[in-house]
Amino acid sequence: MQNIDTYCLCREKRKHYIYYLYSGKKNSMKPITISQGHTYSTTWSSPSNIALVKYWGKKGEQIPANPSFSFTLDKCKTTTTLDISPMDTCEEEYSVKVYLNDTCEPSFVPKIKEFFARIKQYAPYLSDYSFTLHTANTFPHSSGIASSASGMSALALCLVDFENAFSAVKMSESQMKHRASFYARLGSGSASRSIYPVGAVWGEHPSYQNSSDLYAVEVEGIHKVFTTFLDTVLLVEKGKKSVSSTIGHALMKGHPYAEKRFLQANENMNILHTILQNGDVNALGTLTESEALTLHAMMMTASPYYILFAPATIAAINEIWAERKNNGTQVYFTLDAGANVHVLYPESAKDTVRTFIDEKLKPLCAGGAYIHDNVGGGAEKIS
Ligand code: DP6
Repeated sequence: MQNIDTYCLCREKRKHYIYYLYSGKKNSMKPITISQGHTYSTTWSSPSNIALVKYWGKKGEQIPANPSFSFTLDKCKTTTTLDISPMDTCEEEYSVKVYLNDTCEPSFVPKIKEFFARIKQYAPYLSDYSFTLHTANTFPHSSGIASSASGMSALALCLVDFENAFSAVKMSESQMKHRASFYARLGSGSASRSIYPVGAVWGEHPSYQNSSDLYAVEVEGIHKVFTTFLDTVLLVEKGKKSVSSTIGHALMKGHPYAEKRFLQANENMNILHTILQNGDVNALGTLTESEALTLHAMMMTASPYYILFAPATIAAINEIWAERKNNGTQVYFTLDAGANVHVLYPESAKDTVRTFIDEKLKPLCAGGAYIHDNVGGGAEKIS
C-alpha cells in the first residue's frame, strides 16, 4: 500500500467495519467498505486528454517518474454505464462483463480485472459484487486514439459514485474526484488527469498547489485564452500502435538520458506554470512541441529503440512549421505515444487554421480523417 494505513479486512466481518473514506492527509487514500447486498446503476462520461508536459517513465506501481500537465478534451470521450449487483457465487474473485457498443467484449475483461486487483485494497467490496459495463467511445475504436484515459476514468467515477451512495460518510465533490483520480491512475496513469475541467497536473511539483503522485489535481487560474483552446487530432495512422505506452514507460528504466529527462520535465512544469497564468500562446506552443519531440527522442534512444512516427507525422509537423513561419499563424503540434498529430491553436486562429488543415493536413490523414476537439469541462455524471 502506498503511504496508506492498512486495515484488516475479514470477509465475514466486512459489513461491520467502520467506513474509512478519505484521510484528509496529503498523499493518502483509505480503504472504503460498504455494506453488502446493494444493486446500483450509474452512468458517467469522461473525456480523453492531451498532455503538454509528458508523463514518460514510472516508479513502483503507477507512480510517475516526473509530473505532467494535460488539457482535458471535450469531444473525444467514453460513456460507461456500470450495473452493480450482489455476486451470487464466490467461484471467481471478480465477476466482470463488458459490452462495447452493445457487443460483448470478453477481450476487455482481463484489463479490468487487473485494474480491480490493483484497487482492491482500497475497495475491498469488489469481490462481493458482479459488475456489468456498457461502454461506448465517441471516437472510432481503430482510430489510434487511446481509450484508456477516458475509459479508466469513466469506470473509476462509476465505482466512486457507488461507494458514495452506500457508504456511511458522504464524500464532498472534490473528495470524490480525488478518489476517482486515484483509482483511474492505477488503471492508466494519464487517466488520472481526465476527470477535471480545462487542465490537470499529476505528479508532485512545488509550483502546483496540492499536486500529488497519487492522483491528479485541477489547475486553477488558467488564462482564458487556454480555456477555449482547440485541438484537431489528425488520424495519421489507424489501428493499434506497435509498442504500447506501458512498454515505453518500462524502457525508461536504465535509459541513458532518463535522469536528465525527468529534470527537464520538472523545469518545463515550472515554465508552464507561468505560461498558464500569463496566456503566452507562443511560449505554450513551442514548449509543447519540444516536449513532444523529446518524448519521441526517448523512444528512439531506448534499448531496444523504436519509432512511432509515420512519414505523414513528419510531413504534418513540417507543414505546421511552414504555416507559422510564412503566415505567422498561431498553430502548434503535440504528439502522444503514436503517429497521430494533435494540432493546437487558439480560438482566435480558428478560421485560418481550419482552412490550413483542410488544404494541407487533411491529405496526410488516413482516409482524410481528423477530429476537431477543444479544451473541455471534465467528466460528468449522465444518470
Ligand atoms: C505519452 O497513461 O497510457 O500519453 O500508465 O501505462 O497506462 P499507463 O500509460 P499511459 O501513458 C501516457 C503517456 C503519454 C503522455 C501523457 O499522457 O502524459
